[in-house]
Amino acid sequence: MTTDELIAKAEQFNMKTYNRFPIVFAKSSGTKLWDVDGKEYTDFLSGIGVLNLGHSPTKVINAFCAQVRQLGHISNLFYSEPQIELAAKLSSIAGGGRCFFANSGAEANEGALKLARRWGKNISPEKTEVVTALKSFHGRTLATLAATGQPEKNELFAPLPPGFKHVTFNSIAEISKAIDEKTCAVMLEVVQGESGVWPATPEYLLEVRRLCDKHGTLLIFDEVQTGIGRTGKLLALEHFGVKPDIITLAKGLASGFPIGAIVATDNVAAIFKPGEHGSTFGGGPAVCAAALATLDTIEKEGLCEQAAEIGQFFISQLKALGDATNMIEDVRGIGLMIGITLSQPIARPVVEDMLNKGFIIINVGDKYLRFLPPLIITKTEIDDLVAALKNTLEANRG
Ligand SMILES: Cc1ncc(COP(=O)(O)O)c(C=O)c1O
Repeated sequence: MTTDELIAKAEQFNMKTYNRFPIVFAKSSGTKLWDVDGKEYTDFLSGIGVLNLGHSPTKVINAFCAQVRQLGHISNLFYSEPQIELAAKLSSIAGGGRCFFANSGAEANEGALKLARRWGKNISPEKTEVVTALKSFHGRTLATLAATGQPEKNELFAPLPPGFKHVTFNSIAEISKAIDEKTCAVMLEVVQGESGVWPATPEYLLEVRRLCDKHGTLLIFDEVQTGIGRTGKLLALEHFGVKPDIITLAKGLASGFPIGAIVATDNVAAIFKPGEHGSTFGGGPAVCAAALATLDTIEKEGLCEQAAEIGQFFISQLKALGDATNMIEDVRGIGLMIGITLSQPIARPVVEDMLNKGFIIINVGDKYLRFLPPLIITKTEIDDLVAALKNTLEANRG
């Protein structure tokens, strides 16, 4: 079938929940993808921050295939070695604690919110409130939408589960007023991703930790997007020296195989009793084998260090592009999680133009661009992207 025929069929049978670009991909490898017509693209999005090792990483695919042939699915009524090893590995990465496995970021957050509510109610029936940040993104289930501080995404689905308060991100004054004895948890991204890449300040996270300790409130870091090397550290919290009570992970953890994970300190994890939370597919042997191979590859190939170094290079090239064109107001990010603010509202046409030139990037609204390339992206590929972006910005200058 041609691209047009495939898209016409998609329009007939898929729900229209996405404003998709008119490209049908057929294959991928490393940092490259090819559409059904054979056109090549360099990936600066990684399936939205998922393919940290690039497309089809051999060790991960081999580990997944070997495991699925040997023992693919068993349910969580039994044990399997890959899940046991992955829980031990994530516990050691997090500096202790226990894991629960789900299938996505939203599910990991949903489980973390249930755990926090259950923990709070154990202290007092009133201790059920959750504080999250405006412009946050925590998922599309009803509770994670209630947690998400973006009215335009969640208002349509009211009534949402109650008990969520939203505060301005990085405002110590606001969060100091919002947390009290009724707050069971604060949930934050350490770098807000979906709203345009906004890092927390270290002072903010330190103060939030102090306030949580003062009020007996759990601190949850949603590292669904920031985790697993994306920011140049295995966990982004390592940049800040603040330890939360619960960490959630998903996107990069199994290199594209669906997984979500909650890692909670022993004390907090102990609140869940058998039957209080569960998942049919979560933590299956094959996806856990893929996650173990992902973590092993990141460690053995030094990809965190590489992401940190390449990320700095990328940021400096984008700043230089801003100086040369006068069309970039701000460049920010950590490691290979980078956002820019354009000085004109042309983000969507810029993304479309870049796709025509063979580069996959993404916009947030009409002023922000986001870059989430695989951690194996090269300086040459960055130079090529920056040259194409210069050309595109100039062509779209208003
Ligand atoms: C910080 C954060 N949390 C949660 C989610 C939801 O993850 P998922 O789409 O896997 O449910 C996302 C997705 O973009 C995210 O960026």
